[in-house]
Amino acid sequence: MKIGNQHFRSLWWNEQHQVLQIIDQRLLPHEFRIQDVETLQDYLNAISQMRVRGAPLIGATAAYGMAHAMMQDPSDSGMELARQALHDTRPTAVNLRWALDRCRQVLLQTPIFDRARVALQLAHELADEDVAINKRIGEHGLTLIREIAARKPTGEPVQVLTHCNAGWLATVDWGTATSPMYHAHDAGIALHVWVDETRPRNQGALTAWELGNHGVPHTYVTDNAGGHLMQHGEVDLVITGTDRTTRRGDVCNKIGTYLKALAARDNQVPFYVALPSPTIDWSIDDGVAEIPIEERDESETTHIQGTDGDGMIRTVRVSPETTRGGNPAFDVTPNRLVTGLITERGICAASAEGLAELFPEHAQNE
Ligand code: MRU
Repeated sequence: MKIGNQHFRSLWWNEQHQVLQIIDQRLLPHEFRIQDVETLQDYLNAISQMRVRGAPLIGATAAYGMAHAMMQDPSDSGMELARQALHDTRPTAVNLRWALDRCRQVLLQTPIFDRARVALQLAHELADEDVAINKRIGEHGLTLIREIAARKPTGEPVQVLTHCNAGWLATVDWGTATSPMYHAHDAGIALHVWVDETRPRNQGALTAWELGNHGVPHTYVTDNAGGHLMQHGEVDLVITGTDRTTRRGDVCNKIGTYLKALAARDNQVPFYVALPSPTIDWSIDDGVAEIPIEERDESETTHIQGTDGDGMIRTVRVSPETTRGGNPAFDVTPNRLVTGLITERGICAASAEGLAELFPEHAQNE
């Protein structure tokens, strides 16, 4: 997407220096800093410290991590060590496992001397594939927003609420939940987005930054505001992303998503989830019982980061010195609360049947 006049993806390969470049998302929206990812440890830190984040972007980064590893040691054991280390960085988003499995599958069939070249080529392909998938999600989601716009009094914007950052920063480009918003805005549909701040890491600030860069009207609200806004008819539609979707359409997304879905159900507000198919874990049904939920460091809840009056990024404590913090990073919204899934192949019901209709090859195989 564009920042000023320049087009950026959330990561790219620098051919000249043969290195991956990322945007250090820990510093956004305050500072735009590009970082070189040079060693396997850099890759592991980039994912675990959330310099890169968001399910599809974690997957793409891991694919480049495998390419880097193959440049260092293309043996089977080199591949396994790198795969395991990258896999262990974050447990919830299934795109990580998906990307690593795809790399392993291809590399095992590749002679050792050629693995570095093939792995880099595959990482490029996965990144490009993600962009194409998200663009299609946007085109399908646009039809939903268009239908709502047609029912609204002339000039009134379609009011969308989103949680976390499922934007271009969380993918390679376009985003998942934001892609329909960008497409609607570009199609001239009046739109306003309620952006949940998304404590503790405040990914909503990233969403606000993205939407602002693209000229999409939006308002940043506390995580607790959504139910109130829905009760007062201020939300026409909720769209979120997901880090792992089960075969029957349970969705696991950033902590707090479930509460938004409950409020949406109570207020008859449609609750849609946008997802690329690599986010579907075809091996499980029950998201609450089967998806591992990442527990992050308590300091993310007891402290908060922002800029002071001088523009310096600072971290301050918000809780009493001796109070412990608990930090589950994701929750599961059961399929019964999800109005529909927006995928690259179209929109379907959040059910085993709905997903099987769009992705018959997976539904049969796994
Ligand atoms: O912990 P994060 O910031 O990696 O979590 C990201 C989210 O929960 C996103 O909403 C999700 O990955 C969907 S993104 C396309």
